[in-house]
Amino acid sequence: MGFLKNDSKYIINTYNRTPIEIVEGDGVYVTDINGDVYLDMFSGIAVNSLGHKNEGIMKAAFEQIGKYIHVSNYFASEPVVELAKLLVENTFAEKVFFTNSGAESNEAAIKIARKYGRSKSEKKIKILSAHNSFHGRTCGSLALTGQKKYQESFEPLIPGVDYFDFNSIESIKSLIDEDVCAVFIEAIQGEGGIVEVDKEFLQEVKKLSLEYDFLLIVDEIQAGIGRTGKFLSCENYDVVPDMVTVAKGLGGGFPVGAVLAGERCCDVLVPGDHGTTFGPSPVACAVGLVVVKETLSKELLDGVVEKENYIRNKVNELSEKYPGIIKEVRGKGLMLGINTGEYANLIKEEGMKRKMLLNVTAGNIVRIVPALNITFEEIDKFIELFEDIIKNIKK
Ligand SMILES: Cc1ncc(COP(=O)(O)O)c(C=O)c1O
Repeated sequence: MGFLKNDSKYIINTYNRTPIEIVEGDGVYVTDINGDVYLDMFSGIAVNSLGHKNEGIMKAAFEQIGKYIHVSNYFASEPVVELAKLLVENTFAEKVFFTNSGAESNEAAIKIARKYGRSKSEKKIKILSAHNSFHGRTCGSLALTGQKKYQESFEPLIPGVDYFDFNSIESIKSLIDEDVCAVFIEAIQGEGGIVEVDKEFLQEVKKLSLEYDFLLIVDEIQAGIGRTGKFLSCENYDVVPDMVTVAKGLGGGFPVGAVLAGERCCDVLVPGDHGTTFGPSPVACAVGLVVVKETLSKELLDGVVEKENYIRNKVNELSEKYPGIIKEVRGKGLMLGINTGEYANLIKEEGMKRKMLLNVTAGNIVRIVPALNITFEEIDKFIELFEDIIKNIKK
């Protein structure tokens, strides 16, 4: 053992560490301290969108570090402005607010929504979010996270949040009135088990947002930036939200997030209303420029869809060959969930033995979120290892 033995001694113990010590990454592979090489099928939870040690990312980061690392928000910064311009020119957004993480993106969106609501009426502060959603761990974003197990020990969280059943028009309608200022929703619930929103449901919420004058905020912190085969996941449902929150994949591994704000709310915040010292890092934005240019390309986006179909077909074949283990493949693009019920954690452990990193979400879903530029040969490797695992499962 190298550094792992000191991890829980010196670091507040909030994570269940995987017992390997990664010292290097390259593409979709990571190498541990013993020289063992692992196939990385979850890319730092959908973060390393262009893989490890990406040439373009390294070049952009080193170049920006060679100029300056930080100047503070007292000054405009070229890579920051350029990244905002690229995002605005290629999405519904009129303006962008940059952050350092997903939770911070949602915090900023909450403030925009509350200020938007209060500008209409003192009572218009109610926020709706879905049961089983995940929006982050800070007190605001945790209030949006509709899962008691994450919230209980930290209550009271911010007040004025209520929860609807995901994809139930009846449920959301029962909560909507003139006092609602925003609805937050994931296009694909990630931590909730890779559950996709219904198109009709999202379109109905959009209609309601205009009728009741609230903001529709799509949390694409996991599903955005090319992950589903569209640059933004809401494009899959022909819905234009008022805000989209992003993070994870945006910086290709560097911490940067953003609120993309449409015309109804892009000028709600004014100087003094909100801020962050680090957000955004010019280095992260220089890297974000590389990531966004790449993930906007038709070649990459079409490739994500082709790879989704390829994985689905292969996994479905395995499901027929070894019945009773794989119950369903769900999700979109390279954000896929393989429902393997009670076998999910065993599959993850067996993956480790075969030098493959897998992630399990919601207890029963093997979450497949590799780098978007994973090759078909690398996917074949995954399928080969996955088959070897499930064929050896004793039921
Ligand atoms: C949909 C969604 N929203 C928000 C977050 C929180 O992001 P962060 O961990 O960067 O604060 C996550 C993280 O998993 C997420 O998946």
